[in-house]
Amino acid sequence: MNLPQPTADALAHSLRLNQLIRTAMEAAGGWLPFSTYMELALYAPGLGYYSAGARKLGPEGDFVTAPEMSPLFGKVLARQVSALFESLPRILLEIGAGSGALAASLLEELQALGTPPDQYFILELSADLRQRERDTLAARVPHLLDRVIWLSELPHTFSGVVIGNEVLDAMPIEVFRITDHEVEQAGVAITEEAFGWSFRNAPDTLAGTVTPLGLAPGYRSEVSFAASAFIASLAKSMDKGVALFIDYGFPSHEYYHPQRTTGTLMCHYRHRAHANPFFLPGLQDITAHVDFSAIARAASDNGLDILGYTTQAQFLINSGITDVLADVLNPRAAGNTAAPTSAYLSLTNSAQRLLSPAEMGELFKIIALGHHVELPLLGFASGDKTHTL
Ligand SMILES: C[S@@+](CC[C@H](N)C(=O)[O-])C[C@H]1O[C@@H](n2cnc3c(N)ncnc32)[C@H](O)[C@@H]1O
Repeated sequence: MNLPQPTADALAHSLRLNQLIRTAMEAAGGWLPFSTYMELALYAPGLGYYSAGARKLGPEGDFVTAPEMSPLFGKVLARQVSALFESLPRILLEIGAGSGALAASLLEELQALGTPPDQYFILELSADLRQRERDTLAARVPHLLDRVIWLSELPHTFSGVVIGNEVLDAMPIEVFRITDHEVEQAGVAITEEAFGWSFRNAPDTLAGTVTPLGLAPGYRSEVSFAASAFIASLAKSMDKGVALFIDYGFPSHEYYHPQRTTGTLMCHYRHRAHANPFFLPGLQDITAHVDFSAIARAASDNGLDILGYTTQAQFLINSGITDVLADVLNPRAAGNTAAPTSAYLSLTNSAQRLLSPAEMGELFKIIALGHHVELPLLGFASGDKTHTL
């Protein structure tokens, strides 16, 4: 694998995390389930990829998310949130806000629409990202900063709108493979001095989830118990509200399609995607696609309604992306000082990436989960695919 080399400091950081994982592995008898390895690699306090100081998101980081790419995504999402604020408390809770780009766009646009939130909670596990979010908001929406409150766990009870962009894919996964006779759980052990895959008989919970899928020997894939548990916790705290989760993924029948034999586990390092989760722990993102049927099941098993499920492209079109583009491109629009040509090029470029089936438009989906909400949702008015879950 020909990946860019890290600096000496970054390498030293990765070695410290490597040592911490080795210590945890030795304490556990020389083997860790992959989910534990991923949890430590991404979230070990002060050392994990999301807990420590690496740049992560944006052009100088490892990957770019929709709100990082353009404020257009947040502007359109704000229209859906603004419509929900007509019947819900004007309170937003964003899960895992990254650099704060989405929070800034949502706050700007909700204010422009005349429906600024009374409070904007951000649930953020990483102290480093909290600081980055605060800096972004202080620069882009200083007048609304006093409405933003950081949380380190879900509130006990919540009414309002919850948003999570590319959060479920960052939750630790179990990896499994099917052999001739059984389901095996993938774990991590030291092989030839380095971390490597090591398989054991799957525990009952994993085997019980995978066996009914009827997968052929040789098949390998993932299950995210952590994402389902997160949805169950959210359901417990949700009093009256709607949660919108946007991520790459599919319903179960596509996730576990007979031809998808090597799963969806993926790593991102300096804008290169590869499949080795043991490369420089702490310096790269580790992720898997989201099984939206499992998310829907976790939601309905815990009392939430599935209010809609569709592609990102369909959601953005339903929510008025073309009107937003027209407004921004109108030279007379308030605050539009950019030359029409450069504004046009930059916005149409991002619209193309957000909507195109070859880019984010089809692979990315959005699911709406709700409690005590009966309204039809703007973003799912046409092309709702809930029946495919
Ligand atoms: C890929 S980044 C996405 C950041 C941002 N939402 C964006 O779209 O740019 C994943 C984020 O999910 C957060 N995350 C993962 N698991 C979480 C959890 N259980 N609770 C809160 N945040 C979580 C990570 O800390 C990180 O900020």
